[in-house]
Parts: sequence; C-alpha cells; structure tokens
Amino acid sequence: MAEKLIIFDTTLRDGEQSPGASMTRDEKIRIAKQLERLRVDVIEAGFAAASQGDFESIRSISSVIRDSIVCSLSRANDRDIARAAEALEHAQRKRIHTFIATSPLHMEKKLRMSPDQVVEQAKMAVRYARKFTDDVEFSPEDGSRSEMDFLCRVIETVINEGATTINFADTVGYAVPTLYGTMIRNLRERIPNSDKAIWSVHCHNDLGMAVANSLSGVIIGGARQVECTINGLGERAGNTALEEIVMAIRTRKDYFDFQLGIDTTQIVPTSKLVAQITGFNVQPNKAVVGANAFAHASGIHQDGILKARDTYEIMRAEDVGWAANKIVLGKLSGRNAFKQRLDELGIELESEAEVNAAFARFKELADRKSEIYDEDIMALVSDEQHSHTKEYYNFVSLSQSSESGAKSRAKVIFSIDGKETVSEGLGNGPVDATLAAVESVTQSGAEFLLFSVNAITEGTQSQGEVTIRLSKAGRIVNGVGADPDIIVASAKAYIAALNKLHSKIEKVNPQL
Ligand code: KIV
Ligand code: ZN
Repeated sequence: MAEKLIIFDTTLRDGEQSPGASMTRDEKIRIAKQLERLRVDVIEAGFAAASQGDFESIRSISSVIRDSIVCSLSRANDRDIARAAEALEHAQRKRIHTFIATSPLHMEKKLRMSPDQVVEQAKMAVRYARKFTDDVEFSPEDGSRSEMDFLCRVIETVINEGATTINFADTVGYAVPTLYGTMIRNLRERIPNSDKAIWSVHCHNDLGMAVANSLSGVIIGGARQVECTINGLGERAGNTALEEIVMAIRTRKDYFDFQLGIDTTQIVPTSKLVAQITGFNVQPNKAVVGANAFAHASGIHQDGILKARDTYEIMRAEDVGWAANKIVLGKLSGRNAFKQRLDELGIELESEAEVNAAFARFKELADRKSEIYDEDIMALVSDEQHSHTKEYYNFVSLSQSSESGAKSRAKVIFSIDGKETVSEGLGNGPVDATLAAVESVTQSGAEFLLFSVNAITEGTQSQGEVTIRLSKAGRIVNGVGADPDIIVASAKAYIAALNKLHSKIEKVNPQL
C-alpha cells in the first residue's frame, strides 16, 4: 500500500502575504470551500493574530469546513497561540502552526535573540499550543540557512514537547533540490525522536526551484507533507504550486509511489477562483493551469495527438478540470437553473435575497451576452458579494466618448458612502479618462502599479476582467472588476481597489 502524502494548502495564509492579494472574509470562505472540494488535507486559513479580519475569517472557515483540517499560523508566543486557538474553536479538526526563525542571520538581526532563547521560546510555544490541540506543527523559519547542530537541538526539543509535524522551511527560496532533500534526511537520521513527527516541506520559488525542492524533500528527505498554494501564489516569486506537485506525483506514479487525497478535476476551477478573487492572473504557459497548458499549436503535435493522444500529451485536460468553457446558461434560463448551477459550482449565497440579486445580475448579463459560462457566473457572484458588503465607493454607471486622434472624455456616476456623485475626466483614451474622472473626486493620490485586462472566456462577446494594483503609504491593494464593457470593468476595478485602500485594515505580517 502506497504511503499517504499530505497536501497542506496555504493559499489563504502565505498566498495572501503577496502584496495586493488580501481577501475579504467572504472571499476566503469561498476559496476554503473550494479547497475542501479539491480535497486538500489541511487548509491554513490565515494568521489569527494578524488582524481582527483574519481572526474572523479563520473562525468562519472553522465553522463551515468539515473534512479538511483547519490550521492557523502563530508566532511562538502565548498571545498568538491563544488567538489561533480561539479562532479555531469551532473547527471539526484543528491544527496550530507555530514557528520561530533558527538561522544565525534571522536570530541575530531580526529576533535579536540568542540561540538558547530561541530554543526556550520554541519549547514553550509548542507546550502551550498542545494545551489547545494535539495537532501542533512547528516550523524552523529560514531552516535551509540554519546550522545543522542547532536545528537538531530545536527540533528534538519541540518534538519532546509534542509537535506532531516538523515543517522544514526554505523561507527565502535559497535551497537547491539535492541539498535540501539531504538536509532533511540528515536531520531525520540525527534527531533521536524524529520518527515521532511527520516531516513537511515548505519552499519558496525565488530561484524557480520550489516544486523541485519540495519533491526532493519528499524523495530524498522522507517528508510526507507538502505545503503549497494554488497557482504558486505567494510573496515575491511565490510558493510551491499545488497543481504542479499533485500532477507530478500523479503523472509519474511509476516514480513517486504515493497516495493523494486530491480530486484533480477540481484543480482548474480552484485555480480560476483564486486568480479571479486575488487579481493574480495565471501566465498562459504555466504548467497544468495555464491557458496554453493543453493547447497543441504546432501542426506536427496536432497530427500526433490525432493519431494517438499520448504521443505529446502526458496528462489529460479533463483530468485537471479543463471543462472547455461549458456554455451553461442563456437568456431563457430561469432562477432554478441558475440556482442549480450555483450549487454545482459550490457557490453558496447566504440568503434568498442574495440569490435573487445575483439572478438579477445574471439576467442583465444574459441580455448583453448570449452565452453564459461558469467563469461569468463566478465573476458576477464576486461582483455581487462586493456590492452587498456596503462598500464605501460603489459604481453606478458611466458614459464615455473617444475618437482617434482626440482626447477621450468620460462621465462616471458612483456613490460615496451612499451619496451619488457625478464626475468627469479627460484622458489619453477611454480608460485613462474614466479613472481620471473617479480620481478627480476621490483624490486618493495612490500610485498606479498595474493595469491588466483579461478575457474571461473566449470570443469577442467575453466579459473583460480588469485588475488594477495601487500602492499608497506602503500598502498595496488589488481591485478586480468584470463587465462585457472593459471601460466599465476598469471603473469597477479602480473603485474596488480604492475601497480596499479606504478600509485601512492594519495587518501584521507574521514574518517581519
Ligand atoms: O516561509 C516561511 O518560513 C513561512 C513560515 C511561517 C512557515 O511561511
Ligand atoms: Zn512561507
């Protein structure tokens, strides 16, 4: 019988640490439910001590998730651990994940603590966490740049205190596959109680080796848990991509003989949901979930595929959930059909009133666009969720005119704290004019970091999905807006980003 490999998803915690990827409670719940549908073993739902919002998100996720273990990160101190325990109170299965840096550089410069103090703090943290749950994970942060003798000392101590998972973190993506795997193997061989814990890998992708390092940690090191995120989302170059790990193990079963609990047909829907909510789009040539991952453009390859699929295809698109843009609904579809599709997509709206509002939006969209795909439904639900959360700014309507060789003009109507305002702007094209109109009233002064437009589905009827990334006073936020009219989508995205800046949520980064 093949051994089980635990898939620990940290999209909602480490993924959310990427600048601009912050998510609302409702968005996190939607993603957590989708992760459960994907059948991940552990969902790291956040860092409870980061903010009241993070705490509440973990609490809500804990009460809706039934099968996956729900986990909260906490630094190695009593306050963080107690906060994590409180947030996880209603979880069916819970885990507290505590960590402290162990590299000489981090201990000296960041923590300003001696190695002895670090060992003591790690010990007390795990001891305290065990009072709340018998499932406690410990990570030596910056583990791959730590000294082996010291790692042996810390890890032996925390296992004695009852840590059940040891997560060997390559925090800055410095590791090299064979060395990383060998480090884990040596630690397991040297630490006398190492067999009392499950070993885990946690890699960052700064040198593009996160997946390779993780697999080496499993094969050479004997790790039996992989920490990863959907689409490899995460700070800087991101984390190990869940979809790549899972499909590597499944496709090369001849080599990686492990049992995985993942329902791979949910990979693409999960990837799309995370991209749509965070505004971090997936590059077309990204393995498994990129739009071109299964497109055989070259004539030779197409010929081969027609003769025998496996000439050029090592995985099947349908096995990872590429359902080829199913047309699901149209103008004549009724409320029941719409509700049924929401259920099939796993979207649970909180009240009948919300279903009615989403259905009204669907009807509006179906009047403008004859074929409605799953992606359209996901985008309109996101839009609806924003509008019912009583945002400070709300888009109402716009008109604009543009002509080649002349400045564009836009008139935007939107509300500020419930009061409608009309603003006008001129610009180097309709998008510029529209955003200038909004900015002339809101006066955010934010720096513009990114503007991107994506077609949600195929064809010119597709809705455009716009992502706008803004920065102000050290905070970076993303706003996403979708509409068949990309100028309207741009206005919605800008307003969504301004709402995030306006919310001024102070969040603590656990690793700073
Ligand atoms: O990268 C890292 O070190 C982390 C830890 C908190 C596990 O994310
Ligand atoms: Zn990390």
